[in-house]
Amino acid sequence: MTATAPNTPAEIAELLAFYASTGVDEALEDIPINRFAEASRPKQSERAPAPVAPAHENRPQERPSLALRGDQSRAAGQQTASPGLDASKVPDAPARTVAAAVPDEAQAALARQIAARASTLEELRQHMATFDGCNLKATAKNLVFADGNPEAAVMLVGEAPGRDEDIEGLPFVGRSGQLLDRMLAAIGLDRTSVYIANVIPWRPPGNRTPTPHETEICRPFIERQIELVNPKVLVNLGGPSAKTLLNTSEGILRLRGNWRVHTTASGIAIPAMPTLHPAYLLRTPAHKKLAWRDFLEVKAKLRALP
Ligand code: URA
Repeated sequence: MTATAPNTPAEIAELLAFYASTGVDEALEDIPINRFAEASRPKQSERAPAPVAPAHENRPQERPSLALRGDQSRAAGQQTASPGLDASKVPDAPARTVAAAVPDEAQAALARQIAARASTLEELRQHMATFDGCNLKATAKNLVFADGNPEAAVMLVGEAPGRDEDIEGLPFVGRSGQLLDRMLAAIGLDRTSVYIANVIPWRPPGNRTPTPHETEICRPFIERQIELVNPKVLVNLGGPSAKTLLNTSEGILRLRGNWRVHTTASGIAIPAMPTLHPAYLLRTPAHKKLAWRDFLEVKAKLRALP
């Protein structure tokens, strides 16, 4: 392959084959760009010249607001009830000023109301399917609601769907899901005896880490889902699930293996075991023994149930 851009059909085919073989499956950038804001900004040639700052000075300021841009473009594009997001009203604001958190707060509040209204899992699924307040929905193929048995004593919660889960609309069906199935089998469980969901029900584009705003918007849904399933034991797969649902900022390597409590909105205390995410275990197989210990704890807890 040459270092220059491919020109001929054969070169383009070669490049696409390379992308496919390395798992590149999205024609998106890592960080969403607010095209609405860009369109409403005067062109560079029309603006007063800006003072030139070294690149390293610009980056930290731009980064945090860029992480919000997807939400802003979604709100501007769909004209939701989020006045602060109307990009046309802030034609040339510096990136930091454009990054108003209010609309995401509004979406999180809406998610809380909607989630609280659901009195069954099916109602919750329907409410989530019609909720447009999370920008991740715009790029996802499917809502990944849950798999398994809603009557199960054990509920496992991961972070967010990946490519395979997005295609099938089911959590943990890719490589990490296959490892999870083997881990469950090792303690005598399978998808008929557990219920599985994610903190985030829509795949983040390119499998990027969900932003804190996206997590806050989705949090009421998973919290209500846990409340409706009302499992005897919760298993947090990975740091993001543990941090979001156990209200802690501790790292997963410290958290794992120790029983914690997830308290539902109605005050029910559910024992929770934070453990390592199967995707992490695929990358760090030496730590499988730690996850094994955690799963044995879960097995012992289930045995001890009345
Ligand atoms: N990783 C997760 O956290 N959830 C899935 O559903 C798949 C991979």
